[in-house]
Amino acid sequence: MAVLVTGGAGYIGSHTVLELLNRKEKVVVIDNLVKGHREAIKGGTFYQGDLRDEDFLCNVFEENEIQEVIHFAAYSLVGESVEDPIKYYNNNVVGTIQLLSTMKRYGVKNIVFSSTAAVYGEPINIPILEEDATIPTNPYGESKLAIEKALKWANKSGDINYIALRYFNAAGANKDGCIGEDHSPETHLIPIILEAALGKRERVFIYGDDYDTPDGTCIRDYIHVVDLAEAHILALDKLRREGESGIYNLGNGRGFSVKEVIDKAKKVTGINIPVKIGERRLGDPAVLVASSKKAKKELNWNPKYNDLEKIIEDAWNWHKNNLNGYRR
Ligand code: UFG
Repeated sequence: MAVLVTGGAGYIGSHTVLELLNRKEKVVVIDNLVKGHREAIKGGTFYQGDLRDEDFLCNVFEENEIQEVIHFAAYSLVGESVEDPIKYYNNNVVGTIQLLSTMKRYGVKNIVFSSTAAVYGEPINIPILEEDATIPTNPYGESKLAIEKALKWANKSGDINYIALRYFNAAGANKDGCIGEDHSPETHLIPIILEAALGKRERVFIYGDDYDTPDGTCIRDYIHVVDLAEAHILALDKLRREGESGIYNLGNGRGFSVKEVIDKAKKVTGINIPVKIGERRLGDPAVLVASSKKAKKELNWNPKYNDLEKIIEDAWNWHKNNLNGYRR
């Protein structure tokens, strides 16, 4: 019996695959390698293909005894989703519906779904609770929310049991440095800061310093990718144990401004990273900080690497040893 991981060659997917392998789980990975890296998959059986390809997907279910699914495969860039919403609906929604149909056909009920803090849009309360309003401000968040709703109904009909995990800002890298973050193009704050520290970029542009926050820059809740991976395993355990569906935030419950993150990175790297204040980025909420009380209580999730400096240290370790990411 195997766990199917879609998008297992991506950043969070590959860290979760590694945790599953460490637990001696049998793993089957699907990835179309549009964004992911073959080198990031450290074991299991790999299939290159797209979830929207029904024959391909059925073949994977035919050839393996799939017991559960952890579903990461999706596009995840907020800005790009505003520019090309159809691309996002096609990949994220059509792909997932094809996956759910195939699961139903083969009698696979349990799925852990990779959702996002982007489902909340501009939050009304900080820290954000799972029951707060979900009013996404971009197609990426909408596409994830559409799937959460499909899962809710598929659960009511008895077809699916699901746990949706709403991540806040994933960062860091595996402790042994064998896998890390490598996006192309890179848009995320911490890798961009570290690329600037390495001289791969001239400077870091701070996207606006006129927000309603203490130093005027946006505040985010950064969570170590290994803690995120661990939460997927705990979600899987809960589905196996109880088969009960639910939605959980995953964050540290502490917010750091863009300026604070840059200061921490300067400390960790010992490099005076050049910075310039730029325009606001479209669609950025001022503050996103999670309440993860529910995940702690119901999943027994206990994030171990919740110190931002440690998170940046692990990311730094990966970036300085892999100057070209996986394209060594
Ligand atoms: N930022 C900069 N300069 C940069 C890059 C980012 O100032 O060069 C700022 C952004 O404006 C934002 C903060 O740094 O205020 C974090 O930006 P990221 O791009 O690293 O992350 P986001 O918060 O925009 O988005 C991430 C994921 C989304 C997810 C969201 C949930 O990329 O998929 O977290 O919190 F929805």
